[in-house]
Amino acid sequence: MNIHRIIFTVFVCAAAMLSAVEPVQWLEDEDLGEFCLLGQYDSGIKKTKARKNVLDMPIKINGCVYEHGVGMHVFPKKTWVGDFFPGGKAKRFEVKFGLDDRSGENASAVLNIYADEKLVASSGVVRKGWSAKEMSVDLKGVLVLSIEVKDGGAFNYSVYADLADAAFVMEDGAKLLASPESFSRQLGVLTPADDGKPRINGPALYGVRPKKQLLYRVPVSGERPMKIAVEGLPEGTYFDEKRQQLRGVTPARKGDYPLVIRAKNAKGETKREFLLKVGDKIGLTPPMGWNSWNASSMWVEDARVRKMADAAVELGLADHGWQYLVIDDGWACALSSAEVHGGPVEKCVGRPRDDNGNILPNSKFPDMKALSDYVHDKGLKFGIYSSPGPKTCAGLEGSWKNEWRDARRFIVWGVDYLKYDACSYGAGDSRGFSEGRYQKLLPYMMMGKAIQEGDRDVFFSISSQADLYVDAFQRCRANSQRITSDVFNCWPLVRRSMVAERYYWMNTEPGQWCDPDMLVLQASGPKRGHRMTPNEFYTHVSLWCLYSAPLMMGFPLDKATPLTLSMLTNDEVLEVNQDPLGLCAALIQTPGRDEVWAKPMSDGSIAAGLVNMGYVERKVKFCFKMAGMRGKWRVRDLWRQKDEGVFENCYEVSIPGHATQLVRIWPEEGAKFADDVLDIRDFAWMRLVEEERPLKPGADGCVPCAERREAMKMK
Ligand code: GLA
Repeated sequence: MNIHRIIFTVFVCAAAMLSAVEPVQWLEDEDLGEFCLLGQYDSGIKKTKARKNVLDMPIKINGCVYEHGVGMHVFPKKTWVGDFFPGGKAKRFEVKFGLDDRSGENASAVLNIYADEKLVASSGVVRKGWSAKEMSVDLKGVLVLSIEVKDGGAFNYSVYADLADAAFVMEDGAKLLASPESFSRQLGVLTPADDGKPRINGPALYGVRPKKQLLYRVPVSGERPMKIAVEGLPEGTYFDEKRQQLRGVTPARKGDYPLVIRAKNAKGETKREFLLKVGDKIGLTPPMGWNSWNASSMWVEDARVRKMADAAVELGLADHGWQYLVIDDGWACALSSAEVHGGPVEKCVGRPRDDNGNILPNSKFPDMKALSDYVHDKGLKFGIYSSPGPKTCAGLEGSWKNEWRDARRFIVWGVDYLKYDACSYGAGDSRGFSEGRYQKLLPYMMMGKAIQEGDRDVFFSISSQADLYVDAFQRCRANSQRITSDVFNCWPLVRRSMVAERYYWMNTEPGQWCDPDMLVLQASGPKRGHRMTPNEFYTHVSLWCLYSAPLMMGFPLDKATPLTLSMLTNDEVLEVNQDPLGLCAALIQTPGRDEVWAKPMSDGSIAAGLVNMGYVERKVKFCFKMAGMRGKWRVRDLWRQKDEGVFENCYEVSIPGHATQLVRIWPEEGAKFADDVLDIRDFAWMRLVEEERPLKPGADGCVPCAERREAMKMK
């Protein structure tokens, strides 16, 4: 280092230390252990560090060492997002942003800073070897500061960014808040208490294939004892009263079999028509159930699944339509511990297959068939997980080149649902298909066919790492496809799903559901500053119902709070999800600040969600003309199950921060749609066209993929 360099360095580093003299609240003192990551989780991502770079060494940018700061791993194509809550009590936020000297060559990154969701500062692309970029953001009156760090374009796994000297300069004595709950009134339990009367819940129809085992729980809520009966069942099928389940073997003849369900208890009686549709399609309404991943990840085991099955019944969830119990990753074996990512590694190591190539579970699941019998005996359905690649996302045995063998095994085990997750598959397939698209879909096509060859109907839930292949629904017989990477209990991820659904809603129809991942209504995933508020939970459930998304509970059922349970047993809300028309809501008004999502329902009504995207309570308006609706409309508040009245032109309501008002709207006499409106979602189409978003699959069949990913980056 020559003398000029030394003088320059001393000058820059001294400047860097000046702001540390002021009384500040350091960013590193916040809980950054688990942050909100936009992009598929990857086990290679190193944990964010306080006062150190991500390699646990002193923070050093272009030769300057900083005592304070936060070091993070900027993974390619992932975005680190942190929300912090000055609550109007901070003067400014300061940071010196740069690439740590330990980063790989050419490492680059970008820091964006948002004040109350508006972009107020951006570092631009910053490269390794550059001095830290000093940034200062005025925070007067600002409630929420969001920090976003992403890669600067160079594909590099050693991008280590430092937010050196990052600090909030606070007003006297003020502290950052731990959550945004105080910015707005928070909603409590809204679902009215159960009056004990019998109510037949769940969808109005159920699709089965001919000559398959029938398993459908008839969900009826209300006081017990209760007498439930089902009339009109085709030969070979019956209603099993103990398990509250339709059972037997479905008819060979395709067609509609109208049934009548009756329920009676001390409080009253009721009946409901129900259609058993024997045909080629299953999953005619989105699946509802529990999935083990977000609750138990690699610690999933037999006893835990049994406990969840018990809970689903005991908590009454099964009486509101929650039927599936799905074991996610973590049940299969890996040959060596080096392959396993996370969890009780030693328990996952073992022979993945027996001498005949049959897949073996590990010691956590001594008898898979006995477990599925247990779940079925509870009147529920049983699901499992595998991968089209050689390895699952956690590094355990996948089904690649064993599709038929594994499908047969799953059928023997009594599987009703298969989640088929793309990890480790993607480089194409060596089995002779040369065209890119078929290479990508081939293993899904094989499993999709194989799994339907048995005597069971298996709901086939696929994930190709969040890219949707429109023709995979048909070609692979997929019933659902993931459209986002993993969702954890963190608001930016729900917001990201909302952006994804803007581009995907048109691909949803009965039997083919777009899957924005699980319901994360309990503490799981990112901690402080990210755990969703009650209002955000209401938005999460309202939107997933409007999206006709698979509803898989991604949290431990035995720990569900009264608020969570009240939300999951609100039948008028669930009806929006289970509507037989099976459409997905579109964003019909105002992307960005306050959003209105709406979809047509099978009875001619409209379900709509008015979302307050801000942190503070305010009025949100749905003007009917945005959906081509003319005249007077009757509005019902679905969470409170209460009529709101009749409205003309607009419906306006005050909504707490980040909450959603979910309503159903029926036409009053004389109300109609404008002549040129075929579907209330036409306007959403038009907006996308105006934005020139590519709506057609690209050459590889993926919609729209590169463009969508770009669009989904945080605004
Ligand atoms: C991926 C999926 C998750 C879960 C894990 C299991 O990340 O997106 O839903 O299945 O793999 O390893």
